[in-house]
Amino acid sequence: SITNNQYRPSYHFRPPKNWINDPNGPMFYNGIYHLFYQYNPKGAVWGNIIWAHALSIDLVNWKIIEPAIYPTKSFDINGCWSGSSTILPGNKPAILYTGIDPHNRQVQNVAFPTNLSDPYLTKWYKPDYNPVMAPIDGINASSFRDPTTAWMGSDGQWRTVVGSKIHLLGKAILYKSKDFVKWKRASHPLHSVHNIGMWECPDFFPVLLKGRRGLDTSVNGAGVKHVFKVSLDMTRYEYYTVGKYYEHKDRYVPDRTSVDQKTGLRYDYGNFYASKTFYDGGKKRRILCGWSNESDSQTDDIAKGWAGIQTIPRRLWLAKNGRQVVQWPVEEIESLRGKRTKMKGLKLKQGSRLEVKGVKASQADVEVVFKVSGLERAEPFDHSWLSDPEKLCTQKRADVPGNVGPFGLLVLASNNLTEYTAVFFRVFKYRSRYVTLMCSDATRSSLRPEVYKPAFGGFVDSQIQKNGKISLRCLIDHSVVESFGENGRTCITSRVYPIVLSTKSKVGLYAFNHGLETVKIIKLKAWDMKNGNVLDESSYV
Ligand code: FRU
Repeated sequence: SITNNQYRPSYHFRPPKNWINDPNGPMFYNGIYHLFYQYNPKGAVWGNIIWAHALSIDLVNWKIIEPAIYPTKSFDINGCWSGSSTILPGNKPAILYTGIDPHNRQVQNVAFPTNLSDPYLTKWYKPDYNPVMAPIDGINASSFRDPTTAWMGSDGQWRTVVGSKIHLLGKAILYKSKDFVKWKRASHPLHSVHNIGMWECPDFFPVLLKGRRGLDTSVNGAGVKHVFKVSLDMTRYEYYTVGKYYEHKDRYVPDRTSVDQKTGLRYDYGNFYASKTFYDGGKKRRILCGWSNESDSQTDDIAKGWAGIQTIPRRLWLAKNGRQVVQWPVEEIESLRGKRTKMKGLKLKQGSRLEVKGVKASQADVEVVFKVSGLERAEPFDHSWLSDPEKLCTQKRADVPGNVGPFGLLVLASNNLTEYTAVFFRVFKYRSRYVTLMCSDATRSSLRPEVYKPAFGGFVDSQIQKNGKISLRCLIDHSVVESFGENGRTCITSRVYPIVLSTKSKVGLYAFNHGLETVKIIKLKAWDMKNGNVLDESSYV
């Protein structure tokens, strides 16, 4: 039976009980990381949504304090939905969020800390002049939400975008303001796309062409590109493009190499939604926070008494090729690494499986570099597969042999492999090039029939044709498997609910190869992970 504990993550953030969804308004302010998140104080299903508030100095250990924003006024009486934070001149934080009004219309509000000398920014006030953006002049009042972190243009005006749609036209409605109080809608959206549906949780920020350093959200100019991300309600996946922001035209234009629709780039090809980035001025990096929903049944969520986790915050930067972003778990997470196991120079022949011993496989961090041989014998790639890597992973699962791959890791495995989650690569040949597929296949993850067990997949911009090498990192935390292929070029998060976690028997971790060609483990390191602390000092009942 489901208890509170067997699937509860130990180093991913979530409060002790109840439902959570989107990360809201993450920021670094005077040495403290603030994470707000959508929270139902009354149960493990979505509803009664408020902004809960957690603090951290290392993004690993958290202290939950009282909720920051909850319904008190007519402009948010039916809910306090997602939004963001912006640090205004004079080092003054501000929140922009969506309130649900008495007519269930979505409106945008501002809130400010009550007392700037309180280092925790515990209390927030909502001025009576709210809402500052209302669904008028043709805006659909039930599709108007999730304002982004504001950025300042060279004219000294603030800008923010709000996610919206008109019929199936997804829109990022642009607003401008001189004082953060009076906001004026621009004559056209910052960006819009046909036949796509509602754009939830847009995010818009600059990235440097070169290097991993992050930029404050207001930076623009030479050497800078922009990333535009939406959470697509229609597919429940997120998509982003890399492009250029023309400030004087109030437009964002994706590069030609960036596909602007359902087959476009994703931060994460798995269970990852409503994400948001922020600029960490302390370590000069941009950090991505995201929500990973449960994929067991709602009955199980209620039995557990909790639902939803925040993924490990990821540092994010533009890849060298300028066409995609790269993500990597923040370095602070490595402080949780405990006992280590190492392997190197081992060969995985066709059909072989190698146990990674001496690591607590239900709570581990694994890094491995593989080297393939016989690339020229890779199977041919059918061009039509490009549009749907998830389908390809569903058809070619870990137990379907190929020529080069599948090879990778079997995580959260039961003793006799009646349960396992396979995270792996498969290489195909397309003309004179190679196509690398990465899958996180939960099909066999649990013997429990009621659980949703998709085989997620994404293509990897790998260097495999140069030297045959490809890397994989997996953060395993009970029901969470967060995987990073090729140093963060392709990421996939799966939620899995193996029965083995609720038994006394050992949980297994293996490297495997079901491809014809031998694969070498150049090196593999695995660490036990310690628990992160989540101290709950919230007084909300
Ligand atoms: C995304 C979302 C947002 C909304 C919030 C409500 O998951 O639907 O669009 O503001 O959640 O909780």
